[in-house]
Amino acid sequence: MELDYRKKLKEIFYGNNKKAYVHSFGCQLNVSDGEKIKGILKEIGFSFTDSPEDSDIIILNTCAVRESAEERVFGIIGSMKKLKAEKPDLIIGVSGCMTAQEKNLERIKKSYPQVDIVLGTSAINSLPGLIYEHLNSNRFAYDISEYADFSCRAEQVRESSFKASVPIMFGCNNFCTYCIVPYVRGRERSRNSQDIIDEVTALVNQGYKEIMLLGQNVNSYGKDLENDMTFPELLREINKIEGDFIIRFMSSHPKDATKELLDTILECDKVAKHLHLPVQSGSNSILRAMNRNYTVEKYLETVKYLRERYKDFSLTTDIIVGFPNETDEEFQDTVRLIKQVEYDNIYSFIYSKRSGTKASEISDTIPEEVKSRRMRELLEVQREISDRHYKRFVGKTMRVLADGKSRKHEGFLTGKSNEFIIAEFEGDESLIGSFVNIKVTDSMNWAVTGEII
Ligand code: 5AD
Ligand code: SF4
Repeated sequence: MELDYRKKLKEIFYGNNKKAYVHSFGCQLNVSDGEKIKGILKEIGFSFTDSPEDSDIIILNTCAVRESAEERVFGIIGSMKKLKAEKPDLIIGVSGCMTAQEKNLERIKKSYPQVDIVLGTSAINSLPGLIYEHLNSNRFAYDISEYADFSCRAEQVRESSFKASVPIMFGCNNFCTYCIVPYVRGRERSRNSQDIIDEVTALVNQGYKEIMLLGQNVNSYGKDLENDMTFPELLREINKIEGDFIIRFMSSHPKDATKELLDTILECDKVAKHLHLPVQSGSNSILRAMNRNYTVEKYLETVKYLRERYKDFSLTTDIIVGFPNETDEEFQDTVRLIKQVEYDNIYSFIYSKRSGTKASEISDTIPEEVKSRRMRELLEVQREISDRHYKRFVGKTMRVLADGKSRKHEGFLTGKSNEFIIAEFEGDESLIGSFVNIKVTDSMNWAVTGEII
């Protein structure tokens, strides 16, 4: 049936210079879904544009993790009313995590008649059917059902020709009390390991240099599969694939950062010596209220284990500031933890209340300005740490995957080292997409600068 729709849509769109604008918000898993959506659109005859005004179909691939992102999307949908009035044949679709919440679907149906299609996170393959249904009936068409089908039956349109992300699992079972993900992405479902290995092998053979394995909680990969691999086993298999490439993965949950996983990272030559390990808070009472299932002490043991065996092992983290009723002392515990770990970088967010989550039931007494002040303090502390951290690399050499032109320095390229250090160096654009060795000559508080050797 689905193939029939594709065939019919090809007949309608092919050769007519039809353009699509696909914008993904939020995490890399969502960006990966956006690439699958593009794959389907390409197959039925669309090329792509960066301008909604020039497009014949718009897909807003949304994120629900924080309220601010949701409101931004509603603002954008609102502004598209005018576009639709000028161009009635324009198709507007909304996909991604926001569509999994009944209240959002109702709001779209009720207040945004310019939206023609809603596509749930597990229903990407339904896109041709929905477009066809909408064209035939000129009515709102949607599919937010949950399939256990992760394949995308079209070739993904990847944003980069040398960095590829490969989802290995979907959903999350952890129910951290602040987080909407388990409600909008469902329970953990791992892909078959052979499919993943085949996909990575094909990407490496096509010349991809960086493979990013993705999941909400990659280190619980395989727990839902029978007779398949664990995440460390999968990493070891991917590490055996021939070719010059680097393996990254995110995100990992500290409660599942087993010794076996840490040893695997340290022992596999292609696995980056970098771990994004979201700690969320440096206070045990807040971690308990968040249902994170580890303590600060346990987290610090993981850090110690890695740094003792690999001195420059790079760590990055996510922090939530202003969890309901977080006291000043609890916040200062987080500041202390950050100073102790010396992260390369932190991604910090002010707590956002998500209806349906456990934390949303707690009545919060902390004023917004206190949360903003804490956020500023955290960023200030981290800036000093990063400054010190990057200085350590001056005089050293590092291998960097050049990934683009520097936005700040004319004639310079930018890239990332194995340890996830951002480097800027003078070089020709033809080097983008290849590994280069540089000698670090200077540092800033967000990157190092160097010369190709
Ligand atoms: N409010 C603020 N930040 C959140 N995150 C997840 N849920 C929320 C929320 N309700 C952050 C966490 C997570 C990152 C992807 O987003 O830090 O690790
Ligand atoms: Fe959300 Fe926690 Fe799952 Fe991460 S591990 S997606 S923060 S519930």
